Amino acid sequence: MTSNRDPGVPLTANRPLLRWIDKMVALTQPAAIHWVDGSQAEYDTLCAGLVAGGTFVKLNEQAWPGCFLARSDPSDVARVEDRTFICSLSKDAAGPTNHWVEPFEMRKKLKGLFAGCMRGRTMYVLPFSMGPVGSPLSQLGIQLTDSAYVVVNMRIMARIGLPVLAEIDKGEKRVVPCIHSVGLPLPEGTRDVPWPCNPEKYIVHFPETREIWSYGSGYGGNALLGKKCFALRIASAMARDEGWMAEHMLILGLENPEGQKTYVAAAFPSACGKTNFAMLVPPAPLAAAGWKITTVGDDIAWLRPDATGHLRAINPEAGFFGVAPGTSLKTNPNAMAALAKNTIFTNCALTPEGGVWWEGMTDTPPATCTDWQGKIWTPEIARTTGAKAAQPNARFTAPASQCPTIDPEWENPEGVPIAAIIFGGRRATTTPLVYQTFNWSGGVYAGATMGSETTAAAVGATGQVRRDPMAMLPFCGYHMADYFRHWIKMQRGLVETPRIFHVNWFRKDADGRFLWPGYSENARVLRWIVERCQGRARAHETPLGWMPSHEDIDWTGLAFPRETFEQLIAVDRKAWRAELINHEELFLDLHSHLPKEMIFERELLICRL
Ligand code: GTP
Ligand code: SPV
Ligand code: MN
Repeated sequence: MTSNRDPGVPLTANRPLLRWIDKMVALTQPAAIHWVDGSQAEYDTLCAGLVAGGTFVKLNEQAWPGCFLARSDPSDVARVEDRTFICSLSKDAAGPTNHWVEPFEMRKKLKGLFAGCMRGRTMYVLPFSMGPVGSPLSQLGIQLTDSAYVVVNMRIMARIGLPVLAEIDKGEKRVVPCIHSVGLPLPEGTRDVPWPCNPEKYIVHFPETREIWSYGSGYGGNALLGKKCFALRIASAMARDEGWMAEHMLILGLENPEGQKTYVAAAFPSACGKTNFAMLVPPAPLAAAGWKITTVGDDIAWLRPDATGHLRAINPEAGFFGVAPGTSLKTNPNAMAALAKNTIFTNCALTPEGGVWWEGMTDTPPATCTDWQGKIWTPEIARTTGAKAAQPNARFTAPASQCPTIDPEWENPEGVPIAAIIFGGRRATTTPLVYQTFNWSGGVYAGATMGSETTAAAVGATGQVRRDPMAMLPFCGYHMADYFRHWIKMQRGLVETPRIFHVNWFRKDADGRFLWPGYSENARVLRWIVERCQGRARAHETPLGWMPSHEDIDWTGLAFPRETFEQLIAVDRKAWRAELINHEELFLDLHSHLPKEMIFERELLICRL
């Protein structure tokens, strides 16, 4: 086996880590081992190799400097929730919302799958830090992977390489071992395919031993193990034990005309608007008045009470793995600026000029392009067959530092103070535009019972309403009801409780049209939310919580009809009856661990309705 380093001079003094790597090398039998230093030169060499191997297309350097396009195998386009396992020691610890297999049995299965799975390939040893290197809120991991595509994406999404190895060698923090294989060995004499993967997929977490094993997929959250696997599933279990929170949340700052900045965190399910909300541009009249939004993170937040009892949050990531379709200069100019250079596109369409395109990027589609599967696509073909140029879960991997609204505090090792927590789902009916819950436990109830329509971010049917507690259904590493209890408990360590809100940008009229324009107009709702926290905004009491009346929202520059607004905030008692029955179904599944606050909150809600 060849190595890019002298094996006699190990890069880390961490003996257990070296022993684990040796064990994994013996198991997976790679042809070569590459210690990732994280340098630009290494990144460039890996990208050149991906171009040579057909995984990457280099985009037009003038129009898209430093950018590449990858097309995945058509069977490997999103997270696989059915193949995701939480293998805690007992089934009861994983809870009914997670797939569980007895850990001993799973280890046996994995040993079989991983035996020789890297034959003919290079194993990359990739040290990474979730959160700024050295921050007390950060965590460390090592990912072993046989995918160069994963290495270059991880370089954008996390802090990686030599500075992380130095951090590991301080020995202050436990390192989470993560092993990943695309599951396609390369016997001598065979040619590689552009997107190696295996139809059999396993995304496995051992929460007690804090390990991650991922097999068969090269895509997104299945393969970039720092993201959902570590920063949510494993981290949520660590957070429960250590008194902090790992959440599927964006973090943004809203600055008012007086220059006061307020940070909020918001949990929306996958492909339900976090990236868009995090990078919001307020409508022109609000911007002119001095309202400004800054971005701390777009997908994951780690929150912890500080020494003074205030909740602070960091974004553990360093990049955006954002949904491409629907992203445009109109809907999200900041994302467009962030992805204009040094970005990896996956499953977008390729234009004849060597650029990328996706549905919604421009009003007029290109006359022709190569679709995400490498076939010819024209607007005419789309009209007759319904074919999409970009896969609905096509994504961009872009450095967060390139976002024009990135907050000056985004890498503050102590995090930013959080004044409000916002929950939100994608609901065509029932859920109003916005309400503030009466208190923390009412807020935990609103989050716990959140419903949302499924999206293309996960394999399976889309558009079906399901309960997605705190947007964490696919990401909670332990029993969901214990997670609710942890939320309830968190308040006790705080001297000031963040206010909790619920929003829905997706309510539709009887003809299926969105009632709310969304996107930048969401800033008007955000202003109300922040001013509620400051005791400045008015509201009226409803069965769900505090809601704005038409006159409580800043409508400068927008003649928004009172009647439409009333439809948006309406609480339809019949629809809420059905909603409450859905809450009860979730609670029946979780009942053996459900904190009593949830039962009381449900009773109170029934009484108010
Ligand atoms: P993940 O990265 O999967 O966690 O998704 P996300 O929550 O960051 O979702 P994102 O912001 O990428 O939005 C997903 C889709 O929702 C895109 O197609 C957006 O165009 C659309 N969207 C976002 N905000 C709004 C809104 O306010 N109104 C409407 N109607 N659509 C929106
Ligand atoms: C999500 O599905 O919530 C994502 C994309 O953010 S992935 O990284 O694939 O999980
Ligand atoms: Mn996400």
